[in-house]
Amino acid sequence: MAKALLDSLGSKASMRADSVWPDLKTNLKNFPAGRLIAVMNQGYGRSLGVTCNFCHVPNHYDREDSTWKQVARDMSAMAARINQELLPAVPNLKGPNPVVNCTTCHRGQVKPATNLDEAGAK
Ligand code: HEC
Ligand code: HEC
Repeated sequence: MAKALLDSLGSKASMRADSVWPDLKTNLKNFPAGRLIAVMNQGYGRSLGVTCNFCHVPNHYDREDSTWKQVARDMSAMAARINQELLPAVPNLKGPNPVVNCTTCHRGQVKPATNLDEAGAK
């Protein structure tokens, strides 16, 4: 689905995403349109283990019918707050740039595991 959509964008792939889809609300609006599709595929789809249709009405990506589309926006805001406010407030971390993203918690599942057995029992 990502590939078909990217092909249909043609030269618009390098334009700002919000010039192609004016209703974007997150920082993704600043990305090139082609890059937004890559984030959808890798960052959102693969990290939750779902296809595009989990959050979208097939072939009507700008529609808001799915509850999960808005939840994903709220998750994005939550991750940004963790990265900008909460992680920097933890002293003595090893990493030079500690960061969480969708994959950190979801690891290919819609519902993040709260124990290791659950994570193993796929
Ligand atoms: C976990 C939920 C989720 C999944 C899975 C997902 N998307 Fe999205 N998608 C979103 C959200 C949220 C937005 C709106 C972001 C914003 O408002 O900045 C969006 C926006 C888009 C848009 C711009 C249209 C618009 O106005 O919202 C396109 C095109 C799109 N997604 C394509 C895809 C494709 C293709 C896939 C699969 C490869 C996919 N998405 C998978 C959540 C998802
Ligand atoms: C800090 C951990 C964490 C991060 C980071 C995170 N999530 Fe979540 N996410 C959760 C938890 C916990 C739930 C609630 C699962 C449940 O329903 O019990 C959840 C639920 C969701 C749901 C609703 C599914 C459900 O069953 O409730 C969606 C959609 C989702 N996350 C998308 C995303 C996306 C997209 C990102 C990256 C922008 C993201 N999440 C980042 C922890 C996280």
